[in-house]
Amino acid sequence: MTCDGGRDNGIVYHWVMLGPSGSVIARAIVENPECPRVKIDGITSRMDVRSGPTADFPVLTCEKSIPGGARSASVGGRSLNLPGDRPGRIIIIGDTGCRIRGSEAQACNDPAAWPFEQIADTAAALDPDLVIHVGDYFYREDPCPEGNSGCAGSPFGDNWGGWQADFLAPADSLLRKAPWVLLRGNHETCSRGGEGWFTFLDPYPLPEECQEFTDPYVIDIGGVDLLILDSSSAQDNSAPAGLVEAYAGQIDTLFESAGDNSWFLVHHPLWGIGEFAGSLFKINQTLQAATGDTLAPGINLVLGGHIHLFEILSFEGGRPPQMLVGNSGTSPDEAVTIPLSGEEIGGGVVDRGITEDEFGFVVMDRTDGGWFLSLRNMSGGEILACSLEANIITCD
Ligand SMILES: [Fe+2]
Repeated sequence: MTCDGGRDNGIVYHWVMLGPSGSVIARAIVENPECPRVKIDGITSRMDVRSGPTADFPVLTCEKSIPGGARSASVGGRSLNLPGDRPGRIIIIGDTGCRIRGSEAQACNDPAAWPFEQIADTAAALDPDLVIHVGDYFYREDPCPEGNSGCAGSPFGDNWGGWQADFLAPADSLLRKAPWVLLRGNHETCSRGGEGWFTFLDPYPLPEECQEFTDPYVIDIGGVDLLILDSSSAQDNSAPAGLVEAYAGQIDTLFESAGDNSWFLVHHPLWGIGEFAGSLFKINQTLQAATGDTLAPGINLVLGGHIHLFEILSFEGGRPPQMLVGNSGTSPDEAVTIPLSGEEIGGGVVDRGITEDEFGFVVMDRTDGGWFLSLRNMSGGEILACSLEANIITCD
């Protein structure tokens, strides 16, 4: 017999996430044969089964929609942090998993080499009202190479062990702390971490099989509309006609919903610049073709990840800035040493480019005129301070 508040409800992880139209969803992963009870404004029911157990995911994933306006909720006696109408402090993280692919192996056992847990704990201690993960959770695709002590013993594969090690366990403190907005990255495509993505993190009802595309959606966080696109299959260096057509249709729908202060959230950068072997590269070609390099009026910021750096680009001629947060755990990409001012990308010209290759995350605090934006290192120390007002980012 299980009961609220008991220790035998089998909950391993639980969190609250925001979904289409701002719906509020409680999820729990349990090792019990049945889902735990959920109490919403004093009324108790049972969470619904989302999936499992299966051979690869020998756990139950449970969920429950929380009605808008609910004042309190708990799952198995653990109280949930519900979203307010107007979050004041947002944490942004991205590209968090520990890369093991072929002979390429990050030292997952060394918290200095893979600091995602420290970043999550540091961010949780800052009491955020909302967490945005811009995608790429699952990186342990292959076994740790023989004789490599840095990652020895790591679980791997799109399964419970892989997902627990790469995301759920290190993120636990932050998962409990505040509601999450979760973007799907290219590491969560059907050929990579797609099963874990749909089992645990996708905000829609569980589909019968892995889907290449999921519908875009909008979340109103009070004065800002988050326009969210699943770009997981977009190609950095090519623009295949079928993909461009599919994303263009989704982007048209999404941009029709743009309010007069909107942020476009997409894992792949629409206009991202990195450096490799002494030369700059510029991505994402699929998304540039699908948008025609044009945003809806009212979009004041493009927010993504994918390049394993922190990057802010502002542009000449009124194009809104883009911020990438791809430095929250996965091995950093090469530092950008070539000045970015004057570089052309997607028909626009970079006015100012700032990049950082240190591990970290971003804190955004709402101000009277917009947002204060602080890039933090993994201990919480400030690396860079900026402000965002309408579509202007100004950094110290
Ligand atoms: Fe990515």
